[in-house]
Amino acid sequence: MFIGIPKERKVQEYRVALTPQAVGVLVLHGHKVFVEKGAGLGSGISDSEYENAGARIVWNEKELFSKAKLIVKVKEPIAEEYPLIAENHIIFSYLHIAADKKLVQALKKSRCRAMAFETVELQDGSLPLLAPMSRIAGRLSVQVGVHFLQKSKGGKGVLLSGAAGVRNGKVTVIGGGTVGYNAVLSALGLGADVTVIDIKQDVLEYYYDKFQGRVKTLPSYPEIIEKELSESDLVVGAVLVTGAKAPKVITKKMISNMEKGSLFVDVAIDQGGCSETRRPTNHDNPIYNVNDVLHYCVTNMPSLVSETSTYSLSNAILPYVLKVADGKIDEDPSLVKGINIDNGELLINLD
Ligand SMILES: NC(=O)c1ccc[n+]([C@@H]2O[C@H](COP(=O)([O-])OP(=O)(O)OC[C@H]3O[C@@H](n4cnc5c(N)ncnc54)[C@H](O)[C@@H]3O)[C@@H](O)[C@H]2O)c1
Repeated sequence: MFIGIPKERKVQEYRVALTPQAVGVLVLHGHKVFVEKGAGLGSGISDSEYENAGARIVWNEKELFSKAKLIVKVKEPIAEEYPLIAENHIIFSYLHIAADKKLVQALKKSRCRAMAFETVELQDGSLPLLAPMSRIAGRLSVQVGVHFLQKSKGGKGVLLSGAAGVRNGKVTVIGGGTVGYNAVLSALGLGADVTVIDIKQDVLEYYYDKFQGRVKTLPSYPEIIEKELSESDLVVGAVLVTGAKAPKVITKKMISNMEKGSLFVDVAIDQGGCSETRRPTNHDNPIYNVNDVLHYCVTNMPSLVSETSTYSLSNAILPYVLKVADGKIDEDPSLVKGINIDNGELLINLD
């Protein structure tokens, strides 16, 4: 199959979907790979590394889309890319269509096959192509939290570890899945008091057993969320219902009851966000204030650490890209779940 790897266009998106090592494997399997000029530079990968792996460099994205049938990207296509998508294309990338009506319309109109990394789902319900970036975003949520809690950055001026005789910072994580777990690990490592809230009892059991009481576990009820938020310095939103719009577990009132200078990091913003106060931001302007509570709602957080993220993403997606390229999608039910839109038809539930 003819495979195309474009340069990412989203604001400060420095990742690239596949590394030269992965390209080498695809070429060995008899596929022809086109890479847009400069696609890997943001992750420290030169065009010549792709050429040495057997890829052909093309000069622009238009040429890439006209040559390739399978387009492997990191982030969803942006508006300027919509006209490039044609009926014969298979688009394989993060899509997060529940948060983007215009993208749904464009993908339907093109009649392409649009496959989302984040809805590829194993039999046990786990999400093998979302997980690597969720691990990174979870760790970053606390890293950016530490940064923006500093007084000079607009935060309340709290050190998560506290100091001798002085309280430590309090971190509340809503949604204890992959993002949540990694946020909890980072926050604990920095010495914070950590609470995790989840709707599933087995998730709470896991934290209770694993951390032997060092992490407070709570069920997901509005009054509990409201109380925890009012006492927290950093809140991480990490809920997910696969493929669907994120449930709005945080209300305006809950935010207004938080202390001034506290920080809310909505990692779930890519699925529409989990607070009534959310709106997507980007790496150029990551922060805004609601009632003096800082909001960080960047939809492509892993790009902050593009080199780590690119290699991690590429390693995870390669076996699935190979199956798509080999024409074996129907042989793998997990991969079939990745098909969001096909031939003008929406195939997943967005609510
Ligand atoms: N912003 C970014 O750059 C970025 C990067 C990676 C992942 N994400 C997003 O982060 C979100 C979380 O991803 P994940 O991989 O951790 O998902 P996951 O499926 O591993 O975990 C989600 C958790 O949310 C819980 N949950 C669902 N509804 C809930 C509710 N009403 N109250 C409390 N908990 C609830 C689930 O039980 C589950 O434990 C997704 O939207 C994902 O796309 C964003």
